[in-house]
Amino acid sequence: MSLLEKIQATKQYLVAQGIGEVEFGLILGSGLGELADEIQDAVKIPYHEIPYFPVSTVVGHAGMLVYGTLSGKKVLALQGRFHFYEGNSMEVVTYPVRVMKALGAHSIVVTNACGGVNENFVPGDLMLIDDQINFTGTNPLIGENIEAFGPRFPDMSDAYTKEYRDIAHVVAEKISLDLKDGVYMGFSGPTYETPAEVRMARILGADAVGMSTVPEVIVAVHSGMKVLGISCITNLAAGMQSSLNHAEVVETTERVKESFKTFVKAVLEKL
Ligand code: HPA
Repeated sequence: MSLLEKIQATKQYLVAQGIGEVEFGLILGSGLGELADEIQDAVKIPYHEIPYFPVSTVVGHAGMLVYGTLSGKKVLALQGRFHFYEGNSMEVVTYPVRVMKALGAHSIVVTNACGGVNENFVPGDLMLIDDQINFTGTNPLIGENIEAFGPRFPDMSDAYTKEYRDIAHVVAEKISLDLKDGVYMGFSGPTYETPAEVRMARILGADAVGMSTVPEVIVAVHSGMKVLGISCITNLAAGMQSSLNHAEVVETTERVKESFKTFVKAVLEKL
């Protein structure tokens, strides 16, 4: 079965489950999935029930698709994403973005937990992603281009839509949130970076490092979607603090989740 046919089958199933018009796809990262609990008139479907949908394995990821209304917008939220380091192909990692687009979404909001490389950041900061560096070693668009999805050579000049970033800044100011700005550099993982890799990332222009987001954003841009990206700096990157562990990532997202949710909802209302 071709990718197009699988997406159509997934879409048909979701429509039959009551998923109607979708405006925004939300991809909720590690520890940030609770935002989906605030979606009104929610239709919730576990991934394993959805034809051709992958299943996620990471601690802190619920594995649920949630459809409904948030901040007056029709949203389809991915509570737990698919990572390359889990052994998924890039096609699998980005499959939900294709499905969101097929259901009518014109935009995605991507969120993640990541390590701060910029020395002015502290754990708990929220960073608006203004650009990305694909350091995964691959690209989800490698292979035959499907013209029905988008062009062979997508323009990444405005991957994180400027119009949305401007709105996010206005909203942050209004709610007195000290929103940081920066470039997200995506590694394959699952190892955290070495201190030398973090120094490299800084020299190359990164403000934060993580193991997600980059593939989904490439596919969203390919299909002509607008993108808003918000990172939670859960720790300082390797070499900038004594050691790293996943428990700290979870702890920090737990600590900032209320302001994260308030911010994302307030921005979504204005998009
Ligand atoms: N590096 C990569 N991914 C991460 C980090 C990090 O320091 N923190 C949370 N996700």
